[in-house]
Amino acid sequence: MKPSEDRILITGATGFLGSWIISVLIDQGVPVIATDITDNHHRLRELRPELPEGLVDLRICDVTDSGAVENLIAETRPTGIIHLAALQIPVCREKPAAGATVNIVGHINIFEMARKYGIRRIIYTSSIAAKPRGPDNAPSNLYGVFKKTDEEIARIYWQDHDLPSLGLRPYIIYGVGRDDGETSAITRAIQAAALGESYKIPFATRSCFQYVGDVARVIAKAVQSDWEGALLSDITERVDSIDDVLAAIHAVVPGAKVTRADNERVSPAAGFDTGTLQKVIGDWQETPLREGVRETVKLYQEITEIQSA
Ligand SMILES: NC(=O)c1ccc[n+]([C@@H]2O[C@H](COP(=O)([O-])OP(=O)(O)OC[C@H]3O[C@@H](n4cnc5c(N)ncnc54)[C@H](O)[C@@H]3O)[C@@H](O)[C@H]2O)c1
Repeated sequence: MKPSEDRILITGATGFLGSWIISVLIDQGVPVIATDITDNHHRLRELRPELPEGLVDLRICDVTDSGAVENLIAETRPTGIIHLAALQIPVCREKPAAGATVNIVGHINIFEMARKYGIRRIIYTSSIAAKPRGPDNAPSNLYGVFKKTDEEIARIYWQDHDLPSLGLRPYIIYGVGRDDGETSAITRAIQAAALGESYKIPFATRSCFQYVGDVARVIAKAVQSDWEGALLSDITERVDSIDDVLAAIHAVVPGAKVTRADNERVSPAAGFDTGTLQKVIGDWQETPLREGVRETVKLYQEITEIQSA
């Protein structure tokens, strides 16, 4: 494999998506600087127990601390940034000031340092939560409002400073390591089925259910691509219902004790467009729901086997 000229800084790297992106980039031979407020990389260890210690440059960096972000970027000089650090829906609801500080001020700190140090490949995760919905045709929680604000900040950095960025709007991502946030219920249901436990998904909805491996591969490819403008894109156009998810789980694990509640979670279920992302990275494969569930069940069973050995 040709040595990579890229060096990718990831924020929020001990989280669910960060761990999977690290795993993909390592396999591609791309050096990673993995940063978070904690150095507990248990999700990556669970996912890739065979990885040797020291393969990934692990650093503690709080994105709300602009001095710390600047020192890190000045020292490591990344060619691209994948900015994932965020507080999720429940924390933004309970601690709005903390939510705004991490999700908005942290976002500004990353953009400001990218501008200062000339880094022109920034991928950041917005969310489906930023999309208008419901009777007010607007985001329905503070997390969504913060993510919408992040999209606007990215737009202004292009307008005022010619700083390109690519904002991606993941929907409900599922897979091993998703243990936080309101929509982690999908992964919890798959995990329960894998381990023979009971679980009730606390809502019904129609939405996009995305396998984490697909999202990680898309982001890893995008951060090694070039583009101009403050781009914003969906990552999938495929819509399923919770009943489709349950059917996939029952097809993979016959007799699974997994059900759902009746209350409807309002979520946009139409109008998705992946064209912008496609222009940046070309075509990509989407794992069908049943395959994603199958892989997740297999991984949870392997992890449980390793942990109980
Ligand atoms: N998982 C999903 O379904 C989903 C859907 C839409 C959008 N997103 C977005 O994708 C990104 C990654 O999601 P995830 O599921 O991996 O979330 P996660 O909660 O697993 O990871 C977020 C990480 O951010 C870190 N963090 C929190 N405060 C920080 C700070 N001040 N400085 C540095 N790091 C900090 C946390 O420690 C955590 O490791 C987030 O921006 C999230 O909002 C995720």
